[in-house]
Amino acid sequence: MLNGKTIVLGVTGGIACYKSLTLASRLTQAGAKVRVMMTEGAAQFVTPLSFQTITRQPVATDTFDEMDPSVVQHIDLADSADLVVIAPATANIIAKLAHGLSDEIVSTTLLAATSPVWIAPAMNVHMYAHPAVQQNMNTLERRGVHFIDPDSGSLACGYTGKGRMAEPEHIFDRIAAYFANVSQAADVSDQPLAGKRILVTGGGTRERIDPVRYIGNDSSGKMGAAIAAAAIELGAAAVTFIAANTTVATPADVQRIDVESTAEMLAAVMERLPSSDIVVKAAAVADYRPKQVSSIKLKKQAEDLTIELERTPDILHMIGHSDYNGYVIGFAAETGEPAKYAMDKLSRKKCDLIAANNVLLDGAGFGSDSNVLEIYGAEGLVASLPTMSKKQAAAKLLSIAAERLASRRAGKDSEASEEPDA
Ligand code: CTP
Repeated sequence: MLNGKTIVLGVTGGIACYKSLTLASRLTQAGAKVRVMMTEGAAQFVTPLSFQTITRQPVATDTFDEMDPSVVQHIDLADSADLVVIAPATANIIAKLAHGLSDEIVSTTLLAATSPVWIAPAMNVHMYAHPAVQQNMNTLERRGVHFIDPDSGSLACGYTGKGRMAEPEHIFDRIAAYFANVSQAADVSDQPLAGKRILVTGGGTRERIDPVRYIGNDSSGKMGAAIAAAAIELGAAAVTFIAANTTVATPADVQRIDVESTAEMLAAVMERLPSSDIVVKAAAVADYRPKQVSSIKLKKQAEDLTIELERTPDILHMIGHSDYNGYVIGFAAETGEPAKYAMDKLSRKKCDLIAANNVLLDGAGFGSDSNVLEIYGAEGLVASLPTMSKKQAAAKLLSIAAERLASRRAGKDSEASEEPDA
């Protein structure tokens, strides 16, 4: 069932380590190659030899113990993974991943991993409920890390409550179901976005006035997240969500990059643009920022305060006027005359499509779960969508883009084949 899949199993120090032996065994029996990495704490509970015997693979316990000189161990582990599973995950490893620390083999490999990461926490009930642990888990969840919730019951420490690692059979079933879905999706290679890499921006950028104040906007990030989720459902090979100041959950399998300002968003977008086939700029980007940013909190004075603003870079305009030859979709949030403003933005910013919405309409705009989109292309109105969920609107928009991108490619291919031989 899991033939050809490599699962990197990270084991960290807790009594639930013994359950990981069962998990490693079930995965190995199902045909997966299971590569185990353990912290020192984990090795206090269960020996590396136990995992090695069960998986018939070497077990990584030390970043600097390079067993195979032809590769760098933690990079090789990370690159080989179709899925990384941390079970059991201590509060410590969760905190380290949330904060980007890498001081032993498991945390170091996690930072290098580009595959999906699943975490099965196991700890004392009070530790699990601690705000720091909860906040770290929220941070990771927003970055796309998937959690397998612990069960409630009697804990090794004597307490009763939530904190027992999920049963290995349950974790195994979830992993098996995940790979079954992945291969089903891979079979559907005629999905509209099959093989395409999508870059989506969402949320609203903030421009700092001083350390405690900023200029911002009401964008919730829901439209950007809906586009990212719809792209995955339409078969995209990779989806990156550049999220500005939003608490919206990261859809499964989406890579999220959090940014605050327009300058940060510009850097994140430009870095990933060359490896994207479609870029969707759903973010509400600040058009102006304070010319001077105070490094200390501004004190009020008797007189009025004037803050001088300067233009921010227009990211969409820069993409449209660059040599990027992917498909570009912009958004236009308007309070009237969407056709006029959308067509103006389309030609000024050189986009392929503009999705316009009247933010004053019921069921549209910032914070709402639905939207009313009008989609414009070079020829004018392409589609006028009724009120529907942001996810449905996102799927319609991406389907239109996929169709038009395919016919553009087909046009280019036929032009190329008509060229005389050199
Ligand atoms: N945009 C951008 N960078 C900016 C401003 C906007 O990339 N600095 C993008 C948005 O993400 C969106 C589109 O441009 O896709 C439309 O944004 P908007 O601010 O409405 O465009 P403007 O041309 O500034 O329109 P207006 O005259 O209404 O301010």
